[in-house]
Amino acid sequence: MIKNEELEAILQTIDLRDDAPTDEPMRQYYFIKQARELVSAERAKLGRPLTADGETFGCQMNAKDSEKLIGILENIGFEMIDDESADLVFYNTCTVRDNANQRVYGRLGFVNQMKKKNPHKKIALCGCMMQEPSVIEKIQKSYKFVDLIFGTHNIYKFAELIVSMYNSNEMIIDIWEDTNKIVEDLPAERKYSFKSGVNIMYGCNNFCSYCIVPYVRGRERSRNPRDIIQEIEKLVTEGVVEVMLLGQNVNSYGKTLEEPMSFAQLLQEVEKIEGLQRIRFMTSHPKDLSDDLIQVMKHSRKICRHLHLPLQAGSTRILEAMNRRYTKEQYLALAHKIRREIPDIALTTDIIVGFPGETAADVDETIEVVREVQYDNAFTFLYSKRTGTPAATMPNPTGEDEIKANFDRLLKVVQETARSRVGRLTGQVQSALVEECNEHDSTLVSGRLSNNTIVHFPGDSSLIGKIVNVRLVESHGFYYMGEQVPDNIV
Ligand code: 5AD
Ligand code: SF4
Repeated sequence: MIKNEELEAILQTIDLRDDAPTDEPMRQYYFIKQARELVSAERAKLGRPLTADGETFGCQMNAKDSEKLIGILENIGFEMIDDESADLVFYNTCTVRDNANQRVYGRLGFVNQMKKKNPHKKIALCGCMMQEPSVIEKIQKSYKFVDLIFGTHNIYKFAELIVSMYNSNEMIIDIWEDTNKIVEDLPAERKYSFKSGVNIMYGCNNFCSYCIVPYVRGRERSRNPRDIIQEIEKLVTEGVVEVMLLGQNVNSYGKTLEEPMSFAQLLQEVEKIEGLQRIRFMTSHPKDLSDDLIQVMKHSRKICRHLHLPLQAGSTRILEAMNRRYTKEQYLALAHKIRREIPDIALTTDIIVGFPGETAADVDETIEVVREVQYDNAFTFLYSKRTGTPAATMPNPTGEDEIKANFDRLLKVVQETARSRVGRLTGQVQSALVEECNEHDSTLVSGRLSNNTIVHFPGDSSLIGKIVNVRLVESHGFYYMGEQVPDNIV
């Protein structure tokens, strides 16, 4: 991220009569300047500001990417609105399961109707789904009204792509298969003033057999620790108190750096940042979770008491077919070790039901793990076949009805255990970061505990962004109702 004043100073020195520089990020600064001129010309033509809307699907990585895209749009003069009637709409897509793809096609049908009424309207598609050649073919054939398509590796080029889009009547497609490039120092807009995601690495090398992420997000590459620390320091000066370190597999952070560094070491450096109060991270692969990390978490004052540790399946046979590289016993031993070392930690997980060849007996093993680990929350997904992944060619003799019954059985246990886990803090006083006013009741605000559970309590918008003490009065399954207590009572 770059400070506004710094960017403005650089833009002053750029002469658009010169050719665009080839080095990044200078090239993008050049196109930011050019895009500003284009946007202001359009604005003069229409006699009103140009508006833009970003629709984001999928995970925290995509949410973070969208902040970068919105940062560029605002910087070049678009007014952001939360409405697909905008002059420019981008869809940042997800393809981890097929229903995410179907939702995007649905939105495209809808937005095409709007475009027919407003021919100036521009439609851009980006994100994971665009990294699949079959998707691009389909859009070229059946969604010809789309103006711009780009992927996950070149979002930093958005200003340049916008310039190309406004200068062309053809669909612009710019997809890179992979990259080892990390372009820093571009504008970004944050959704929240007090908390922020921070990318620490991109891509994934694990190739779990059901998962499309390694194909659409490319090989693992870590950001330089100095850039990460500087970014967080800057965020703190802007009022951020909580960061979420983001990576597909944060536990393998640092392996690709010239001077290798472990994730545990990175956390220790982040902990030293003055003014930063809370550190979260996502996602951990169980096979790479080190003892060092557990110790760093245990002794940290800032790392939140929450670990998301995807299980995916509880049967060793299925885990092997999934290429997860741990057994049921190894996972359980790890979970027990974490609970022993950090007793107040909340563990959450992801589970897939219906992987090819998974039987009711396999799901019984998953249920056993859920009962034993006692997750605070578990996200359960029906397996979705992703073309190009090894699992897509595996036969699945298990019928749909059986899969559905297995799913329902698991979900019931997940909900029961989560309910009893979450309720265990009732009566305690905990600190909560206030995130927003309650949507349904304006006399309440909603805060997040260190262990990631939500608490609603009486308060107003002046509390947003503050960490306050809250008594957890009543447990309601997945959240608490509480009351604020003055600092001096704790
Ligand atoms: N089908 C269903 N769920 C999947 N996930 C990843 N790939 C698939 C798939 N093909 C789930 C995993 C992962 C989460 C982000 O999405 O549980 O942890
Ligand atoms: Fe997909 Fe496995 Fe990588 Fe997670 S670790 S992104 S599930 S391949």
